[in-house]
Amino acid sequence: MAGVTNAPFRTLCREFAPGLVYVNEMVMATAVVHGNSKTERMMTFGADEQPRSLQIYGSDPVTLGEAIRKLCDADRVDHIDINFGCPAAKVTRKGGGAAVPAKPNLMRAILREAVAAATPYAVPVTIKFRKGLFDSLLTYIETGRIAVDEGVVAIALHARTAEQHYAGSADWNAIAELKAAVHEIPVLGNGDIWEAADAVAMMRETGCDGVVVGRGCLGRPWLFRDLVEALNGRPVPASPSLGEACAVMARHGHLLAGHLGENLAMRDFRKHTSWYLTGYPVGGETRRRFANISTLAELEDLIAPLDPTIALVAGGERIRRGHTNGPIRVALPDGYLDHLDDVTVPDDSHVMALSGG
Ligand SMILES: Cc1cc2nc3c(=O)[nH]c(=O)nc-3n(C[C@H](O)[C@H](O)[C@H](O)COP(=O)(O)O)c2cc1C
Repeated sequence: MAGVTNAPFRTLCREFAPGLVYVNEMVMATAVVHGNSKTERMMTFGADEQPRSLQIYGSDPVTLGEAIRKLCDADRVDHIDINFGCPAAKVTRKGGGAAVPAKPNLMRAILREAVAAATPYAVPVTIKFRKGLFDSLLTYIETGRIAVDEGVVAIALHARTAEQHYAGSADWNAIAELKAAVHEIPVLGNGDIWEAADAVAMMRETGCDGVVVGRGCLGRPWLFRDLVEALNGRPVPASPSLGEACAVMARHGHLLAGHLGENLAMRDFRKHTSWYLTGYPVGGETRRRFANISTLAELEDLIAPLDPTIALVAGGERIRRGHTNGPIRVALPDGYLDHLDDVTVPDDSHVMALSGG
């Protein structure tokens, strides 16, 4: 997740559940090819991190292939995931992101280049996509079939349309339909996994082979430990007390400061404090103070007086965090839907800062 799943966050997640695949923040193919200091920092992995899993975005087959070849050649990744679900207007307006699957021939060309670039290095390519742009243009089954044809090794469906954005419930029936249509490679389901039991339910109800976690882990990295317990049929630990949650928050803050430098890190960490405190009755004033921190010392000073025994409110795990808005008006290039068979490459080379998928 953009702005979230950087190296420190993934370290924290691995401390709770080693052995899962934690995907890095999305990077732009053009930025990888041309070099960019922010992208370089984003592509940092932990010394012991395995697999080094990177999500990449690009809608020009040649540029994407070049970026993947460069990363593989420098031995910087073990897994590439391609994002075809980004609904950001500045991306779809140029025909990129979630708009690409509407043009199956273009998507096929992108996947062909990507897989051709990664295969000599034995780096697997996966893709993540939405149901389609809107309910009247659902593309997920065709996308899944094209992925199989082109040698993608696993697919993940965020079971919402781009128009739906982050609102409403994910449509788990769509995951079941995709699973029924794609037997050759694992199908992963994504959408509304807030608690470990949701992952168990999604796999049981849809038959999917695994799950992708989004907002559920914001301020709750222990969700991954819970998932491992639940999927192995073991009891899931109770949600942490405020004291336990704050200890994880402090650890996260320190890791992030080591990565970005204290000043930048603490600005970035403000959003995380709100996610960690979600569902704990600490009061608005305390939340506001956390949302203004500038130093690690301030973070610790704010944690110290809190009552560590405070419990999460009932249902607090399911309080939505991160993006919640939608539906949106999907921005597309003029006439984009007139010729869905064309392979015109969207000119998205200038799109360098994104909000993800
Ligand atoms: C802050 C934020 C950043 C995200 N960035 C990305 C991203 O870079 N790539 C991606 O594939 N999805 C991204 N997503 C989408 C999630 O991965 C996931 O598909 C979506 O939130 C639906 O799952 P959920 O209902 O469990 O949250 C992002 C979501 C959020 C809230």
